[in-house]
Amino acid sequence: MQRTVIIDALKSTALNQPINVRGWVRSRRGNKQISFIALNDGSTIKNIQIVADMSRFTEEQLKPVTTGACISATGLLVPSQGAGQAVEIQLQELEIYGTADPEQYPLQKKGLSMEYLRTIAHLRPRTNTFGAVFRIRHNMAMAIHTYFHEHGYFYFHTPLITASDCEGAGQMFQVTTKNLYNLKKTEDGSIDYSDDFFGKQTALTVSGQLEGELGAMALGKIYTFGPTFRAENSNTPRHLAEFWMIEPEIAFIQKDELMDLEEDFIKFCVRWALNNCMDDLEFLNQYVDKGLIERLHSVVNTDFVRLTYTEGINILREAMKNGKKFEFPCNWGDDLASEHERFLVEEHFGKPVIMTDYPKEIKAFYMKINEDDKTVQGTDVLFPQIGEIIGGSVREESLSKLENEIRRRNIPDKDMWWYKDTRRFGSAPHAGFGLGFERLMLFVTGMQNIRDVIPFPRTPKTAEF
Ligand code: 4AD
Ligand code: MG
Repeated sequence: MQRTVIIDALKSTALNQPINVRGWVRSRRGNKQISFIALNDGSTIKNIQIVADMSRFTEEQLKPVTTGACISATGLLVPSQGAGQAVEIQLQELEIYGTADPEQYPLQKKGLSMEYLRTIAHLRPRTNTFGAVFRIRHNMAMAIHTYFHEHGYFYFHTPLITASDCEGAGQMFQVTTKNLYNLKKTEDGSIDYSDDFFGKQTALTVSGQLEGELGAMALGKIYTFGPTFRAENSNTPRHLAEFWMIEPEIAFIQKDELMDLEEDFIKFCVRWALNNCMDDLEFLNQYVDKGLIERLHSVVNTDFVRLTYTEGINILREAMKNGKKFEFPCNWGDDLASEHERFLVEEHFGKPVIMTDYPKEIKAFYMKINEDDKTVQGTDVLFPQIGEIIGGSVREESLSKLENEIRRRNIPDKDMWWYKDTRRFGSAPHAGFGLGFERLMLFVTGMQNIRDVIPFPRTPKTAEF
């Protein structure tokens, strides 16, 4: 018989007719007369109840139906006697696909810690929490493609292997096929990459932006959505070594339009979650973060605050005067720490903040320099619970100013010739941003650690699975 997915079975009105469902047993309880199996197939957070009349089955037949086992169950779909579900299945035929030894299957107990579940990331998608998180993750990816497609952007694929360091932070993972124990050296003692696979030093990309700009200078509006790699040795709940980034790049827009886009795009994604993932959000709201749904509504319904870095520093220093203590200093010119960002967003304004016009020394080489020659047109979005969720900027379109920055920062010119060509041939004002997909996921799910919103996290000293 053809399989019905549980999300459809639970909504079905074909009562007293045969139905087949397949999935993993969440629990089995009962007595000598009757047995209740809670079955889940991942299509929804909800289980379907399967009722086995023990006058039709032997104990022996039902013995392998333990938590974690995979079964196929056929029977009549009937109105449920019990509370909690409209329908249930009266079991007629049972097939066991795979057993799960109760002595060994790790997901027996409720309330296992997130830390422990990370050590069994190969099985954790079968828990309610991770099932919900990964269904939401899929839906957020669909929201992102929908938003850009409907607004006339083209999905532009940028390379994962590259020779240029977009952010200039030197956090790249090298890509090589060279024998690391026997490296060929040049006369001055440095490594000779001429015989390496690409004939030059290459690494995994930290951002698709530079190539994204090339796309925008031809197609007008593009976005990327792909994996990004950073060898940041920061073991925080908000950093991954491999994360996914969304990077739109748009010709002919200025700072205000960029900020409008950042705000509209995030609100669209959050609204999408509220419209498409309510069952999973309600579960997370109940068991993970009681303020989640309210916070999602509040972000959708509020105007983000827009303020300059300089105004932000003044607010922080004023707060310090009034007794607020921070771990890190915040003088004009310092990069804001997460505690500063969260103070502004959570305590001072109580809403998301778009911060602009940062000191140029703390930002990347490609940002448009303001007339003061001290600040650049960055437009980061700071979020409650998360801190920085978006990093964006207007790009420097003047070739001479860009060359100046490249020189001043000692960026190897040989890796930049093609990028500079965009400013040499038909340069145009343009802007874009990068949204960290897992940071958005943290916000939308209420999960506390970024390792718990990606199926197989990569962080310092962990690359299991
Ligand atoms: O602020 P970042 O470094 O900006 C860029 O890479 C620009 N090239 C983007 C652009 O303008 N096209 O990174 C952008 C976002 C951050 O705001 C953050 O959300 C996320 O990427 N991010 C990380 N997420 C998880 N783990 C990490 N190690 C991250 N580093 C950055
Ligand atoms: Mg940033």
